[in-house]
Amino acid sequence: MNCLPKSDIRESFPILSTVFDDGKKLIYLDNAASTQKPRCVIERLKRFYESENANVSRGAHRLGNIATSEYETARDQIANFIGANPEEMIFTSGTTESINAIVYGWGEENVKKNDEIVVLVSEHHSNFIPWQQLAKRKEAFFKVVSVRRDGTLDLNEFKKAITNRTKVVAIAQVTNTFGVIHPIDEIVEIAHSKGAITVVDGAQSVPHILTNVKEMNADFLAFSGHKMLGPMGIGGLYISKKRIGEMRPFFFGGGMIDRVYNDRTKFANPPQKYEAGTPNVAGAIGLAEAVKFLKKVGMAEILDHERQLLEYSYHKLDGINGLALYGTRDLEKRVGVLSFNIEGVHPHDVATILDFQGVAIRSGHHCAQPFMRYLGIHYTARASFYFYNSVEDVDALTDAIKDVKERFS
Ligand code: ALA
Repeated sequence: MNCLPKSDIRESFPILSTVFDDGKKLIYLDNAASTQKPRCVIERLKRFYESENANVSRGAHRLGNIATSEYETARDQIANFIGANPEEMIFTSGTTESINAIVYGWGEENVKKNDEIVVLVSEHHSNFIPWQQLAKRKEAFFKVVSVRRDGTLDLNEFKKAITNRTKVVAIAQVTNTFGVIHPIDEIVEIAHSKGAITVVDGAQSVPHILTNVKEMNADFLAFSGHKMLGPMGIGGLYISKKRIGEMRPFFFGGGMIDRVYNDRTKFANPPQKYEAGTPNVAGAIGLAEAVKFLKKVGMAEILDHERQLLEYSYHKLDGINGLALYGTRDLEKRVGVLSFNIEGVHPHDVATILDFQGVAIRSGHHCAQPFMRYLGIHYTARASFYFYNSVEDVDALTDAIKDVKERFS
């Protein structure tokens, strides 16, 4: 199957040619919530179900062997994409499950009373609540470190928050609200210097920034497939060699054992030890296809394109009266996410009116209520780009924002 992106990349994404009943074309700018799928990923899923579908690592029949081989090849390819070894990456349903897996598999065993767990105020709820709740269970301290109003982190402030009692530092490399990139290498170094382990929420970074877990040196990295062209319901968790021995299984059942006796169980080696039950085989294979596509496009090119779209957006939107644009203007610290508010208009109304023009964005608190509360803005409208978006999409966004302004003037 030829998975090379066509010269016009948009043609590889069937959904991008959607025209709604009212004649409006789809302008998809909600990529931080979920990306669209290229034809090769869709076809790969079809091929799996048409000719390879069977359970994995169980039977001796040919189809089972094909499915197992494709599943493990997918693991190799996806682990390689983030610079990990295959045995260091487990499949999960996505970032939320990955972070909960760390909390239940590592945190329950290793976090003790009076330890500190550090997060940033800008975290997505999925990298906030699991730690907050673990801290409550363990009588540990849950420390929430502030960021600047433009979303960036003051490393000196962060450094002050990390002490010899800090056990865990859990931080998103890129914020889902403003698309701000945090200096993850420095964060990991500071945390490790005090003996803390590091958890990187890569949900919004792995799809946009070339990731190498070895260079990053984090203990854990969580990511979601559906935000990087893959199917929904599949994602990954990188666990460093050092930590994998400290983890206990967080789900128990079939597929994760070596021997089971009436009174005890000897578990399989990782990664199988952490993948109880029938895995999402099609999802893993589909995600591997997505990763191949991303590699062909080029991660550096993807980030560069998103930044060009951001720059063009500022060129089009700066100066519109009553339009607040959030996030640092240093584009080296940004991926293609643009949060905004229009004075006097609720972001849900903004999103609804943009949708009249076919422009799909997200509005609300973006699962980051502590951050929104901290900024005193409660909600934003958020456009988020990927490499298949164009300047024409930004033009459509601009026209639709002007339409909102006219309707509410
Ligand atoms: N976490 C996703 C977002 O930011 C759903 O939209």
